[in-house]
Amino acid sequence: MSVRSAPATGSGHDAAEVAKRVDALIAGMTVAEKAGQLTQYFYFGPLPSAENQPGPAFPGQPAAVEAALARGEVGSLLLVTDPAEVNRLQRLAVAGSRHGIPVVFGFDVIHGLRTIFPVPIAMAASWDPEAIEQGQAVAAREARAAGIGWTFAPMVDIARDPRWGRIVESAGEDPYLASAVAAAQVRGFQGDGLGSPGRVIAGPKHFAGYGAALGGRDYDEVNLSDSELWNVYLPPFEAAVRAGAGNIMTAYMDLNGIPATGNHWLLADVLRATWGFDGFVVSDAQAVHNLRTHAFAADLADAGARAAQAGVDMEMALGDPAYAHLPEAIAAGLVDEKILDASVRRVLTAKARIGLLDDPYVDEENARTVLADPAHRAAARTAAQRSAVLLRNEGGLLPLANPGSIAVIGPLADSRRDTLGPWVFDFDLDETVTVLDGIRNRAGAGVQVDYAPGIRPAHRTFPSMFDMFVGNAPVDPPRFDDGAELARAVRLAQASEVAVVVLGEWQNMIGEGASRSGLELPGRQLDLLQAVLATRTPVVLLVMNGRPLDLRWAAENVPAILDIWYPGTQGGTAVADLLFGDVAPGGKLPFSWPRTVGQVPVIYSHTASHDPGQQDRRYWDEASTPLFPFGHGLSYGRFEYRDLVLDHDRIQPGQTITASVTVTNTGERAGDEVAQLYIRQRHGSASRPVRELKGFRRVTLAAGESWTLTFRLGPGELRYWNAATRDWVIDTTTIDVFAGTDSTAELTTSFTIGDLAPARQRRAVGSFAPGRRLAAGICWQT
Ligand code: BGC
Repeated sequence: MSVRSAPATGSGHDAAEVAKRVDALIAGMTVAEKAGQLTQYFYFGPLPSAENQPGPAFPGQPAAVEAALARGEVGSLLLVTDPAEVNRLQRLAVAGSRHGIPVVFGFDVIHGLRTIFPVPIAMAASWDPEAIEQGQAVAAREARAAGIGWTFAPMVDIARDPRWGRIVESAGEDPYLASAVAAAQVRGFQGDGLGSPGRVIAGPKHFAGYGAALGGRDYDEVNLSDSELWNVYLPPFEAAVRAGAGNIMTAYMDLNGIPATGNHWLLADVLRATWGFDGFVVSDAQAVHNLRTHAFAADLADAGARAAQAGVDMEMALGDPAYAHLPEAIAAGLVDEKILDASVRRVLTAKARIGLLDDPYVDEENARTVLADPAHRAAARTAAQRSAVLLRNEGGLLPLANPGSIAVIGPLADSRRDTLGPWVFDFDLDETVTVLDGIRNRAGAGVQVDYAPGIRPAHRTFPSMFDMFVGNAPVDPPRFDDGAELARAVRLAQASEVAVVVLGEWQNMIGEGASRSGLELPGRQLDLLQAVLATRTPVVLLVMNGRPLDLRWAAENVPAILDIWYPGTQGGTAVADLLFGDVAPGGKLPFSWPRTVGQVPVIYSHTASHDPGQQDRRYWDEASTPLFPFGHGLSYGRFEYRDLVLDHDRIQPGQTITASVTVTNTGERAGDEVAQLYIRQRHGSASRPVRELKGFRRVTLAAGESWTLTFRLGPGELRYWNAATRDWVIDTTTIDVFAGTDSTAELTTSFTIGDLAPARQRRAVGSFAPGRRLAAGICWQT
């Protein structure tokens, strides 16, 4: 995979000049001002809400933050997105600080600010780094115009347990795909580097291992082996750092017994010493404070001191910051002031590089224009088209063949808020297109389109913390008669030529604090689906989701299943484009789709051990294979692979080999395909997975068209972290290469690395010291 290194400084900000300016500021700061500069506060003014009405206030909180601003003791604020508010608070900061230092406004711009793109797992399903980069460039443009200089994104945590709600923010299970997606997002947010106009600082999170929460329960402890950490969970972070990310956010949980936010090994040894990260590190919300709840820090001064020493430059605080106790910690000898100076230097350098020290205010008129830019909606529509995954299409039901009547069924089909997905705050519901709207608009006057919800929405057993935003939780329609509504939906299906049923999870069931113990369709959705299918009207199932759900029944009985995820502002329009065949779907699953929750975690890149022939029957009651494999996704074309050829049959460790393969669309319509390349190492100094993704490319092929695609397998693809030697190795071995449409691809060839003298077969011959970047070359173990 190729990642670009970021330039040392952003455009127009000379590094030496910046350093001089920053050092001069630090020299004049008191310890309290330094601690303040390292503190980021939530600012709970009137909260943005689904109805654009003020949400509940947090009495006293805004006043306390404004008092801290007036003392010059705030480095950053989060949750402020109104440009006029940004300017008002910024004036307080600039006037309050003796040095006139502005605050940097941060926000969770996860999949758009006002123009909402598909959720991150959906964008990953596009397998299209360019589309991902463009999406985050639009998000950055809107954020920057509103006065936000920094986003807490991308989330680059590997997610292998779909019970964990934050899988929706991830790029799924695979480190190679997730690394490509991470780098693309960083490029989208930051452009050519910090300081690029209309861009923001990217903050990849949550460092590190957060996705492996015990039992999939958010915030719970994580225990990861050395091999899993280096081979699976850390690579997307390294890719994001190498793409130039200006910030990193720590994680909430304990990693192998040490809180990630107080973890010197992670932050100092891995992030800074090994990868050379030179940006600033922020804690997750309240995570420094919480070092006490981990039974780690004795009190707030201890928590602040230990986080600062571990390498947390800035504390994200809900209130009562631990970093306010840093002056006391310094006086008590718990931490050296030099550590604070280094952190303040990083924070001020970031502010200087994005131009904030020169121009802290935002142009409110320009913000209005940028947020209304129709080009942003067009980009969101394309993104939603490209992220949909066609899971099944028996008998070519899709694209629809000009039906005269369509029944649209299911409450999610007509829910604007759910179409947008979680982690959005500043959206405009009026410009959100639901599936029902999209189908109606596209079908036109000659086609009868009718809608019935069939059932009422399902609800969480325990409310979501985001339900404080008006409109976040679904509301039961008044006077809803369950029996009559189900019967109406069935009658409608009976009377129509095709039924489009939209099922999934309501958006407050996925995201942070949205882990669940099962994967069933919530509520009475399966009953609805079964009742509609019993009418014998052909059914297209659209799945609105951020995690795989239990679709075993649907996968056997429903002819067409299209995963549309939470598709965003233009979701309904994009879905109609796909249903009517104006564009072809081409997304692919970024995770293995389990049959049932009992199988979780299920990954394609497992190793094999005893009795591998029975690996698909490890349970006596259910196949242990996924329902749909990693990388699966159909299109309106049909693809055949042939001529998988390598340019060498042997290379030496450190060398690169090129594979090429020809893919042909043998179908009758144009289609999109993501060609995928996997490897398997036959033997070596550690057990290796049965398959590992090492290359992919999305292409559009007209009917009958062929493309020959090439992939390079170099040291970056062939090395792995060996837990025995605690080092990167490239083994003397034979590598099988597979190419095809998903992770079960069968077309194969092989090559050898090194000279296969028997005595050397089990030895690692090539090694990368962990501190070295690939480009720095290989250091050899002999
Ligand atoms: C989440 C972060 C998020 C932060 C600020 C935390 O609870 O874990 O991902 O950036 O809140 O909203």
